[in-house]
Amino acid sequence: MLRKTVLLTKANQNREKRCEVPQLLKLKSRANISFIRIMKGAVENLRRTSCVSGFYKLSPKERLQFVKEFAELSDEECALLQDTGSLPLDLADRMIENVVGAIPVPLGVAVNFLVNKRDYLVPMAIEEPSVVAAASYAAKMARDGGGFYTSSTPPIMIGQIQTVGITDPNAARMRVIQSKEEILKKANEQDPVLVSVGGGAKDLEAKIINTSRGAMLITELHVDCRDAMGANAVNTMTEAVSPIIEKTTGGHVCLRIISNLATKRLARAWCIVPKKSVGGEEVVDGIVSASAFASADPYRAATHNKGILNGITGVIIATCNDHRAIEAGAHAYAARNGQYAALSTWEKNEDGDLVGSIELPMAVGLIGGAVRTHPIAKIAVKILGVKTANEFAEVLAAVGLAQNLGALRALTHEGIQRGHMSLHARNIAVAAGAAGELIDLVAEKMVQERKIRMDRAKELIDQIKASRKT
Ligand code: MEV
Repeated sequence: MLRKTVLLTKANQNREKRCEVPQLLKLKSRANISFIRIMKGAVENLRRTSCVSGFYKLSPKERLQFVKEFAELSDEECALLQDTGSLPLDLADRMIENVVGAIPVPLGVAVNFLVNKRDYLVPMAIEEPSVVAAASYAAKMARDGGGFYTSSTPPIMIGQIQTVGITDPNAARMRVIQSKEEILKKANEQDPVLVSVGGGAKDLEAKIINTSRGAMLITELHVDCRDAMGANAVNTMTEAVSPIIEKTTGGHVCLRIISNLATKRLARAWCIVPKKSVGGEEVVDGIVSASAFASADPYRAATHNKGILNGITGVIIATCNDHRAIEAGAHAYAARNGQYAALSTWEKNEDGDLVGSIELPMAVGLIGGAVRTHPIAKIAVKILGVKTANEFAEVLAAVGLAQNLGALRALTHEGIQRGHMSLHARNIAVAAGAAGELIDLVAEKMVQERKIRMDRAKELIDQIKASRKT
């Protein structure tokens, strides 16, 4: 059996050509995967197609072989992809689909963090220079004022159930609320372990929303997720209770899914930074003005919040939590009053010191997901030393506030580029082909000249190499 598809041949990659791809690309089971046939038959002739049935059934090695052909990777490039370091390839292969390798990201540790009078080392996985240094520096300034203080709500996540096609939405809403006990009981039957540790579905709300498709009833389960992020538990519960909601409302349930706008799972942090530590009252005033700017202007708020998330996301990635969930929640929370605004505020107290505070949703977990399986994530959690998801969330809020302080201080003081420059220069030097001691030589020269550019790096590499030959 043959099927038709549009492919680009290697000989004429710019011209589309209709070809017939053998059905063998539709693999049925691992046993009957004819990898050799895939490679020798379809792929050789039609190496530019990305349409491959059963790709997921191949082993990482076999997949890589296919990718190698497709993208014309060298043996060295393939070897790099397969060198997955401390994340064994078979573990990576069980974490996500279609694995061909792993990508190492630098793991730094921010120092100086004092949170609720306790010392923390903060592991951060991030590719951006200056973030770890800025967090450490800001934590030091905050430490002079006693460090960060934090609080958080219970770890309650919201699960949404969308019901459409209801003739009497207001009455249906009442009936759902009346069925609360039955719905919560059904939800909690899905996760006896969570219930046994004090978590589970605790409450329910129902609201009517008016949409372009008419009125809809949105039922929201409030689930205490304890030390888990909770997406799996909440999604299972929303699916399980849907038949009750359909029976109760006479409507049709569509979406059943957690909300990342976790307004019932908030983390807060605040700190007092002595004016002396931050660089004087002028710097305090500058930071307070920067805060006002971010509160009033969404364009600035987006960058201000990006700076906060630089730190938070770094820790979230190091601990293999879901950074997309945190980021979605943070940005949605920033827009909760109708205009996107800053997540943190900076004020000046009567002593002229700087007072910072932050509040944002923080759906993080210490159990479930990759946090307990990824070997480096486990070590990162150990370094951080947090024992509960709430403690974790609060430290993250402090990290976000510190990161924000570091950025605002640099922006109001010497500008952001000075701190960035030497690491950035080293990155450019490496990208231009420098290795070993050449990296520092080229980077230092570019910083001196204030010309941190690829073309200059290449020139310098050539010059240094030539001078060594002579
Ligand atoms: C850069 O990654 C982050 C900053 O732009 C944040 C800010 O502007 O507040 C420096």
